Amino acid sequence: MARASFQKIKLLKKKNIGIVAITAYDASFARYFDELGFDIILIGDSLGEVIKGQKNTHNVSLENMIYHSQSVRRAVKNSYLISDLPRESSLNKLIAYKHAKKIISECKVNMIKIECNKNNIDVVEHLVKNKIPICCHLGLTPQLISQKNSFRKYGKSPKEFSSIIKIAQTIQEVGVKMILIECVTDLLAKELRKIINVPIIGIGSGKSCDGQILVSYDILGISYNSIPKIVEKKYFKIKDFESRVKKYIYNTKNFL
Ligand code: KIV
Repeated sequence: MARASFQKIKLLKKKNIGIVAITAYDASFARYFDELGFDIILIGDSLGEVIKGQKNTHNVSLENMIYHSQSVRRAVKNSYLISDLPRESSLNKLIAYKHAKKIISECKVNMIKIECNKNNIDVVEHLVKNKIPICCHLGLTPQLISQKNSFRKYGKSPKEFSSIIKIAQTIQEVGVKMILIECVTDLLAKELRKIINVPIIGIGSGKSCDGQILVSYDILGISYNSIPKIVEKKYFKIKDFESRVKKYIYNTKNFL
C-alpha cells in the first residue's frame, strides 16, 4: 500500500474515491486501522471524552495530544496522520503556532486540525503563513461551544448557511489543505463540495463529502458519553467490530 502523502489524498478526491478516516488514540488501534487501509487517522481531541471520561473536549491539554499522537505515530506506517490542536491552543495565534509546531516536531504527524469559526480565522491564517499544514474543522465545533443545545445541524438558516460558506471560502484562500465539516446539512455539504477545491471530510454531514470520518469508539459502540445517531445501532458484540469497520470502509469508498 502507498505510504501516506497529501498527494495520495488529493488523488482520491480527483478520482472520486471516498477518503476514509477514523480516530485512534493508542498504538494498538492505530496499527489495526493502518493495516485495514484507512487513508487518514485522526488523533482527535475526542480523547477527552472517550479516553479521559470528561464531559467534553475542553480540558484536553497539549501534553495529552502529544502523548496520544506519539503513541499512534509509533504504530502507523501508511495512513496519513492528523492531530487536533487542543482548545487551549486554538484561540491565540502565537500559542497556536508554538503548539502546532511542537506537535508536528515531537509526533511527526502530517497535519494539524483546528476548529474554526469567524472569530479565529486570523489564527488559521497565521498557522498557514508559517507553513503548518492545516485541516479546518467547521460546522459543529465542540471546542468552541459551551451549551448543550449547540449540538445540532448547522446551515439550516440562510444566514448560517452563507456564513459557513464564507468562512470556507476565506480559509481556502488563506491556504488550508483540507476541511472537516461536522453536522452540517446535506445541502450545505453539497454546496461546499461544489465551490471548495480542497478535500472535504464529513461527519454527520451526508454522503456528498469527499470522505467520511468517524470516532472509532462510536463504531465500537462503547463511547463514554453518548453514541451519535449517525452510528447505527447502539449496542452490539465486540466480534461485530471488524465487519462494521470493513462495511464502513466499503461504503465510504463506493458511495461516489
Ligand atoms: O476529535 C474528534 O474526534 C473529531 C471528530 C469530528 C472526528 O474532531
